[in-house]
Amino acid sequence: MSKSEPTTTVTVTVNGEEYVKETEDRKLLVHFLREDLGLTGTHQGCVVGKCGACTVLHDGTPKKSCMLYAAQIDGDEITTVEGLADIAEAEGNEMETRDGATLHPLQMGFKRNHGLQCGFCTPGFLMTSYALLQENEDPDDDEIRSALSGNICRCTGYNSIVESVEWAAAELAGADDGAGGSDGNEDGAVSTDGGFSTDGAAGGCPCRRDYPTGGDGE
Ligand code: FES
Ligand code: FES
Repeated sequence: MSKSEPTTTVTVTVNGEEYVKETEDRKLLVHFLREDLGLTGTHQGCVVGKCGACTVLHDGTPKKSCMLYAAQIDGDEITTVEGLADIAEAEGNEMETRDGATLHPLQMGFKRNHGLQCGFCTPGFLMTSYALLQENEDPDDDEIRSALSGNICRCTGYNSIVESVEWAAAELAGADDGAGGSDGNEDGAVSTDGGFSTDGAAGGCPCRRDYPTGGDGE
């Protein structure tokens, strides 16, 4: 930080942890999160408020963190994609993957339904989706598309993302009524492999294509 830059000391709670940091007045929240707090799950795409990649929750409301200065959030609460696992654990909705990572049902939904493609846009989609499900437990297709209209993916379609949110909504509804969720298993059990079969020709690949195993000349 340059000595000539005006600075402000901010006290902010991020993912339940309080930080007191001196920051340049002109530093954007997205840069503050990534550079000053080391929370690199929030990504910077356009930095002009158009892509939604940088979306975080500001006092519970989804906001584009490239449109806020860090100095503006003094005394406030921020939730980033890193906080979803803690939320899931606090609410008893955590899911484990085969590598032991704890995921929120939304994250599992994106994984299972191929809603995620790259690390740039996905955190923003997740945070906007989380805010939507906080307000509307059972959004329909149009409501999901409308809520996500500020998030841009430049390389794929949106159908899988919508299906991911619908899957998570059903999972969370199942958790609420004690039915054990909608993991896709008929017995309602939560799978630990992300729901991808490891049997048969698909060999566990999420895309279920029959890739050659090679090595034997066949
Ligand atoms: S980086 Fe903030 S909206 Fe694109
Ligand atoms: S921009 Fe991330 S998958 Fe398209």
